[in-house]
Amino acid sequence: MNTVGKQTDPAGARKPLAIWGAKGPALIVAEIIRLRGEYDVVGYLDNLNPDRRGTGFGGARVLGGEEELGNLWESGVRHIAFAFQNNHARLRLAKMVKAKGFELATAIHPTACVSASARIGAGTVVRAQSAIGPETQIGENCIIGYGAMISHNCLIGDGAHLSSGVNVAGSVKIGRATWVGIGATIIDPKSVGDDCVVGAGAVVTNDVPDGVVAYGVPARVVRANDRASVEST
Ligand SMILES: CC(C)(COP(=O)(O)OP(=O)(O)OC[C@H]1O[C@@H](n2cnc3c(N)ncnc32)[C@H](O)[C@@H]1OP(=O)(O)O)[C@@H](O)C(=O)NCCC(=O)NCCS
Repeated sequence: MNTVGKQTDPAGARKPLAIWGAKGPALIVAEIIRLRGEYDVVGYLDNLNPDRRGTGFGGARVLGGEEELGNLWESGVRHIAFAFQNNHARLRLAKMVKAKGFELATAIHPTACVSASARIGAGTVVRAQSAIGPETQIGENCIIGYGAMISHNCLIGDGAHLSSGVNVAGSVKIGRATWVGIGATIIDPKSVGDDCVVGAGAVVTNDVPDGVVAYGVPARVVRANDRASVEST
């Protein structure tokens, strides 16, 4: 395993980038982006709080909401990083900005340990001290939390969020837009479906079907995942 990638580009070679999101997750992504040195953070987008436009945040300013995309493009910005927790919103807005010609920036913390044979999709954020094993594939627009451990040959679907300290054994499959809560464990070779929530601290010892909330030790399906808003933006 290696700690992946280059740390800094030569001075002046950094590409301008906007971060979509202006809360805690955006601070985390900004820190990774600045450590990697590939992009300059020109500001933050916040669709939910128009009153924050122009206010200082995370070493730059809140630029406004989605209506600012045109101005960003005009000013030469081509890259956007997503930094909020609502999995479905990340997937929807990423599709929208790609259709406008923007590219999704991937943010991998320099202390993340990523196998040379792992694949990480565009727009995915990999936080500090996490590890991703050989031949594991992480989809687009995922969040891999602080200290999450994902072993070999796993398949993690687009828009999935694995919270801090999640432990995923080898050959596990996690579906699209699924949220795995802090400290949960998934043993091999089990799978968790699309659009699920796995509760904090759960131990998944059986396959979890699509569209449910499961938690406990061992994890049991508790109900349908009918609250798409269970995660805050
Ligand atoms: C699973 C979860 C989404 C909530 O599910 P919910 O069905 O809305 O649960 P409720 O809050 O209504 O609680 C219902 C019951 O389940 C229990 N419960 C909730 N989450 C639990 C969990 N992860 N493990 C065990 N029991 C849990 C509650 O204590 C409550 O028990 P009670 O009825 O005896 O009081 C949430 O508790 C959770 O685990 N979220 C993950 C948080 C996290 O990881 N945050 C990190 C952010 S990056």
